[in-house]
Amino acid sequence: ETATVAVVPGDGIGHEVVPAALEVLDAVADIEFVHAEAGDAVAEQRGTPLPEGTLEAVSEADATLFGATGETSADVILPLRDAVDSFVNVRPARTYPGVDAVQPETDLVILRENTEGVYAGVENRLTEDVSTLTRLVTQSASRRLAEFACDYVESNGHDGFTVAHKNNVMRVTDGLFVDTVREEAAARGVDVDEAYMDAMATHLAMDPAGYDVIVCPNLAGDVLSDLAAGLVGGLGLLPSANIGSERGIFEPVHGCAPDIAGEGIANPSATILSAAMLLEFLGADGAARDVRAAVEATLADGPRTPDLGGTATTDAVAEAVVDRLPEH
Ligand code: NAI
Ligand code: MG
Repeated sequence: ETATVAVVPGDGIGHEVVPAALEVLDAVADIEFVHAEAGDAVAEQRGTPLPEGTLEAVSEADATLFGATGETSADVILPLRDAVDSFVNVRPARTYPGVDAVQPETDLVILRENTEGVYAGVENRLTEDVSTLTRLVTQSASRRLAEFACDYVESNGHDGFTVAHKNNVMRVTDGLFVDTVREEAAARGVDVDEAYMDAMATHLAMDPAGYDVIVCPNLAGDVLSDLAAGLVGGLGLLPSANIGSERGIFEPVHGCAPDIAGEGIANPSATILSAAMLLEFLGADGAARDVRAAVEATLADGPRTPDLGGTATTDAVAEAVVDRLPEH
């Protein structure tokens, strides 16, 4: 049966990197695409950044390829993650031959809690002076993340994982998070290291090879994965997967990059690598491997976009990747 994939380019360079990834997907898999809109531009035209039809397309598709949205991104990606019940955001960060990296030894994956923490959306302005934010942590979401982490570690041949938190300050919420994760891992016989998230930021910057799989709350995962992006050569290289029990949304970690949008020079690698994660999610492991290998070869030998020191366009890079794919 042909898989259905919703395609939501969003704003800015989303309209450049998503078509590039679609060319690659087209070359390796038989997929039915459903195109949908979201973001700042749609909000201006239709009064909402997330039209009903888009929410429906994403809710019904087997998977979604998402680009990036602009100022409205919280109003778009958070409800979409909800719509597919995505409880974990998978963010691999590794270096590639041919790409200048601050820390060439980096090869890690961040498993970020994706539904709660400070992003649960409970903020209040109480008075002129006072605003508050309620941080939500549940045992069930922490357990689900831990179960996923244990499965991930086992199926990818890792020794264990490191859980990042700050239970010395957020004793109740991060206390519950860490206790639950530790308990689940113990029940599964998976090794767990622990690190305070602030100390981890230092260690990550200085010795990223010390980390392999990192499990963390929502905000920590957001920040630490952008830090990891800096270690490996920039945001143009980092894919991500929002995984739910039945569906997933695959998107680059970067935003819509208004500073370069429209110039046709955005690096499509992060989005093409996100498409590879999508293929894997759909069970097309061979195609996923081929796409990754083609991206790696292109990063190694060029052409490269300006963020990696090259002069190539987005389209030229996409073409080079497609050219390096075996026949499908
Ligand atoms: P950004 O990721 O859009 O850009 C940061 C810097 O990285 C810019 O200099 C940009 O040119 C560069 N960059 C990003 N992706 C690149 C690529 N593929 N190739 C080459 N260079 C790339 O983050 P920024 O500037 O903080 O946010 C811009 C807009 O994007 C904001 O409106 C923000 O809200 C939104 N955003 C949306 C996200 C989403 O849709 N999931 C995630 C992050 C930001
Ligand atoms: Mg972010």
